[in-house]
This record gives sequence, structure tokens and C-alpha cells, in this order.
Amino acid sequence: AFMNILFCTSEVYPLIKTGGLADVSSSLPKALLQLEHDVRLVLPAYPAALRQAGELTELAQLKLAGTKKPVRILLGQLPDTEVPLYLVDAPDFFNRPGSPYTQADGKDWPDNAERFALFAHACVALALGQADGNWRPQLIHCNDWQTGLVPALLSLEPNRPATLFTIHNLAYQGLFPAKTFSALDLPDELWSLESLEFYNMLSFIKGGIAHADWITTVSPGYAREIIDETHGYGLAGLLRHRSSELSGIINGVDNDIWGPTSDPLITRRYDVHTLQNKLFNKFTLQRDLGLSVASQPLLLSYIGRVVEQKGIDLILDIMDELFKHPVQLVVLGSGDPEIEAQLRSAEQRYPRQLSVHIGYDEQLAHNIEAGADALLMPSRYEPCGLNQMYSQLYGTIPIAHRTGGLADTVVDFNQESLAAHQATGFLFDGDSPEALLATCLGALSLYRNDRVDWWKLVIAGMKQDFSWTQSARQYVELYARLVNSRQGDEPEGQVANIAFTQEDEQSRHLLH
Ligand code: ADP
Ligand code: GLC
Repeated sequence: AFMNILFCTSEVYPLIKTGGLADVSSSLPKALLQLEHDVRLVLPAYPAALRQAGELTELAQLKLAGTKKPVRILLGQLPDTEVPLYLVDAPDFFNRPGSPYTQADGKDWPDNAERFALFAHACVALALGQADGNWRPQLIHCNDWQTGLVPALLSLEPNRPATLFTIHNLAYQGLFPAKTFSALDLPDELWSLESLEFYNMLSFIKGGIAHADWITTVSPGYAREIIDETHGYGLAGLLRHRSSELSGIINGVDNDIWGPTSDPLITRRYDVHTLQNKLFNKFTLQRDLGLSVASQPLLLSYIGRVVEQKGIDLILDIMDELFKHPVQLVVLGSGDPEIEAQLRSAEQRYPRQLSVHIGYDEQLAHNIEAGADALLMPSRYEPCGLNQMYSQLYGTIPIAHRTGGLADTVVDFNQESLAAHQATGFLFDGDSPEALLATCLGALSLYRNDRVDWWKLVIAGMKQDFSWTQSARQYVELYARLVNSRQGDEPEGQVANIAFTQEDEQSRHLLH
């Protein structure tokens, strides 16, 4: 049966994006819509969202905990899709330009707890049919700590819909001092170790993990890792406790946006039969970046947030060794100001081999995928990771740490996997610079000495199916199970209201 799904998120491409959550928040609902479910998004009404969400209809003015002013619920649409989009319009909280989480200096907004608590109250109102009189969801799909309070608040409602909480990154937890709990005026019963309390702090993410009917993460590998202390960030115990209601579903790729045959942002489009265009893209990229234009050097790349999680410091550590070889590297990203500065100074030392772009640049990201030979993802941990999938589709070979979603989506090169035409990249173990360097030099050697084998990896990657089709089906199966068991749970009185079928009626007559 087709279901009504409310997808709660704090970022969605192309309205507002800091990372992969935004990509998933648009591409998964699009895929669910294709399967004919009535899926709707709800997002805070950031200025960028108000500008781009098409014609907006005001559905309600809600009185919500946390503000005296009425909160408007607007209905628009996700651009270039048919996905309905609710915007929670509370200008004191969300009418701020730039990042959804941080001020211009990169520090978190001091009132993030208040902001995402208010957002949660609005999601709850939508969940209970109090914000849109014409629509009621059967399941609420929440994502990351910003929506963690939604399952917690809904757990107190007898007639609530089913809830699913997806962990995209366990390291970001929404932790605040205990006194914030009182300031937010949350129901007292939520202050306990079984609920929002975490070592005498308020934890938003615990609201999702402790109270949702089910928990998913964005790869099966990460789902196994987070029940272990090393990856559990203090929550491994709780996750183990809930492990019978925890599973991993791998993210997919939005093929409307990512793919070398149709990408409008790249210089020349290509497929496995026109790989000379990829070489042309490499030359163009080298020229535009001020690197020497030639096919011989292996053009490595990095696209992503510049933070410890991503292991970008390992790349800095190996540069002196790496650049003794015919290797070039382009880095696109932003984040930690200290690492950004180190990248800039490295660029001064290796102007012909290293090109650094601090900032966020969609077009350059696409051109790097289309022009580079390989993509580095030495992430210390990676719940799923999207770029290693994008890069395979573009014939850009991933060199990645064997962890989380990276291990689930890259097939490591060895003689066996190569012979089976399955190898798509290079995986290394541990998070040492030595391991990364050795693997990069291994890739360089294949590129220089066994070009035919290199092409086999390129082609195997380009032939991968990373579309959402399969994963969206897995979500639908899970949704259906949760919706059904939620209906089974409903109080007696409601079940009795369900109409008897004709056969039921007949058999009742017979019985009398
Ligand atoms: P995470 O969500 O942890 O940042 P993912 O690999 O899931 O990592 O997703 C990152 C997404 O953000 C990808 O779509 C990637 O292309 C994009 N991205 C990251 N940094 C930049 C940047 N500086 N410019 C353009 N796109 C970027
Ligand atoms: C998170 C993770 C990343 C994942 C993305 C989308 O930001 O760090 O691995 O791909 O969410 O699920």
C-alpha cells in the first residue's frame, strides 16, 4: 500500500547543503515518490529555502513551545521535483544567511538547541495532523541530531505515527548543558538515562536513538561499527541495547545530478566508449588549476569537508613524499581553519603539483570528478560517503580507507578481483600516513606500468549501479513494517472502528 511519509531534515540539496545529508534528503524522497508514496519534506525556512521553494502557501500559524510569536507553516516544492516541501517559518530562529548551523566565523549558533527544538515541535505538529488539515503522515523519518527530539516528543503521544531515525553521522550529537533542558521546557519524563540525558548533558541524538521505533544508519558496515566503543562515541551501549531495531541501508546516487553522460556542469560528457573526453577534461582541469598539462602525472583529488573525520591531515602528512613522484593533487573543501591554512601553505611549496580551493564550489566538484584520475578518501570513519560512488561513475578511481560505507562500496584491487572484473578502487587499512602513501604509490604504479589494468578498474566503476532503486525499496519495506506494527499497537477502541468486510459480516451472522 502507498504510504504517507514525512521526511524531517535540516538540509536539502539544492536549497541548503553542508554535506551528504542534503544530497540524501533530496534524492531519497525523489526515489520514494517514484515508487508512488506520498512523501513530503519538512525543513526550517532558511532564507535560501524561502527564495527557492517556488510558490508558497500558508497552511497554519502555530503556537509552539519556545516562542511567543506564531510559527507559520508554509507549503512549497523542492525545485525540479514534485516533492512537497513544508517550511517552518520562525524568522527569529531561521532567518539567517549562510550555514544552517554556524555563524560567519564558523562557530555554532549559540541558540542551536532552541532552534532545533522549535523545529522538532513543528515536525510533531505536522506528524499529528495539527499543521496541515489535509494530510497526515503514517511514518516520520528523522535524520541526525537536529531532528532527534521528534521521536522523543512523539513517544509521549498515544496516537502518534511510526518513527524512524537515521544516523548519518554519530559524532555530531547535539550536546548541550543540562540547564538547556529546563530552558527548553521539555517534558520532565524525557530527562533520564533512558532518554535525553547523556552524562549530565542534554543529547538531542539520544532522543532519536532511544525513542524511534527503528534506527538505521547509511551503510551496513557503519551499522556494525557503531555498536563498538571505537565508533560509538559514547553511544555504543545504547545502540547495542537497540541492536535488534538497528540496520544499515546504503545511500544511493541521484543520477539526475551525477553521471558523466548527462552532467551539464562538466566540459565534455563521456561514457566507457568515449574516454578520450575524460582525458580532455583532465587537460582542461589542469590548465584551469595552473598545473602542468600532461597525461603522465597521476591527477589525484580530494573533495569534502576539511575536518579530522575525513583524514585530510593524512594527505598533508604524505605530501613531501608524494610530490617526489609524477603526481598532481587538487583539493576542494572547507572547514577547520587550521587545516585550511596548512593546505594553503603547502600549495605555495608545490605550485606545479598542488592546487587548493578553499570554499564550496558545486561546478568545480563536478569538473574534478570528470577530470581527475583518482579520488582520495582517507576518512577515519565514514558512515556512507558519496564522493567515492560519484567518482566511480566518472571513472575516477577511489583510494579509500577500508571503513564504514567506503568498504561497502569500493571493491579493492587485487589479482582476483581484477580477473573477475570487479575491482573498482584501492582500500587501505588503518589510519596511518604510511598506509595511505603506500596505496597511492601502488595506484601510481598501476597507472604508469599497467594501463590496461587501470582501465579495467575505470570501466568496472563506471558500470556500477549506485542508483536509489534498491535502497529506496529497502526503506519502503522497513516503513511498511513499522507502520503495520504501529497500527497493531493502537488502543483497542480504534481497532474496533475498522469496518468489517462483507465476509466478516456474513460469518458473524452464521455464528449467531
Ligand atoms: P559528508 O556528508 O560527511 O560531508 P559525503 O561524502 O556524504 O560526506 O557528502 C559530501 C557531499 O558534499 C558530496 O556531495 C560532495 O561533493 C559535497 N561537497 C563537500 N565539500 C564540497 C565543496 N567544498 N564543494 C562542493 N561540494 C562539496
Ligand atoms: C554524513 C556522513 C557521510 C554520509 C552522509 C549522508 O554526513 O558523514 O558519510 O554519506 O551523512 O548520509
